[in-house]
Amino acid sequence: MTINLAVFASGRGSNFKAILDAIEEGKCDAKVLCLVTDNPAAAAINYAKEKNIPVLIFERKNYKTAIDFDNAILFELKKYPIDLIVLAGYMRIIRSKDFLNYYKNKIINIHPSLLPKYPGAHAQKDAFEAGEKISGLTIHIVNEILDGGPIIFQHKVDISDCKSAEEVANKILKYEHIYYPFIIDQIAKGKIVLSKF
Ligand code: GRF
Repeated sequence: MTINLAVFASGRGSNFKAILDAIEEGKCDAKVLCLVTDNPAAAAINYAKEKNIPVLIFERKNYKTAIDFDNAILFELKKYPIDLIVLAGYMRIIRSKDFLNYYKNKIINIHPSLLPKYPGAHAQKDAFEAGEKISGLTIHIVNEILDGGPIIFQHKVDISDCKSAEEVANKILKYEHIYYPFIIDQIAKGKIVLSKF
């Protein structure tokens, strides 16, 4: 059954675009009800506008605390019948317990390393500098632990031929674009059941 998504993105939005393309091509049985961003200059906004998807912009500077910020998003999101929140390059940690409880087992993230190795914002650089030959991507459920929620899916990528951290990032990103829409589709089809993780 088609699932309703809210996608969260802070920047470039290439994963968001990959999801939109897969939906259009009939490869991902989902509908994006809104894009949430903390960055009014995010390129992801353009992809939403092209498809007439509502964009909800929340700037952290307008809220006293990170929890207030998350709760403001929660308040608006509740107006949409959302089945799944998809973090796609969202550069904030969700800290509100109310938010995490309300969407328990309904938030997923993609991370460009084989977690638990290399959590955090520089995963590809960290893997490259550690001399890893194999890295990859992880899709996981989001809970209160940074990059630490239950792992749904991992895909290994051979990075032994990469000459820079940027090359590593680009190589992994290609697979992110394939597997993120695929896993969302698996969730839509009931082949992956998040509450079982
Ligand atoms: C991706 O590498 C994703 O794994 C990480 O942030 C990057 C976002 O890229 N969480 P984009 O904004 O989807 O192009």
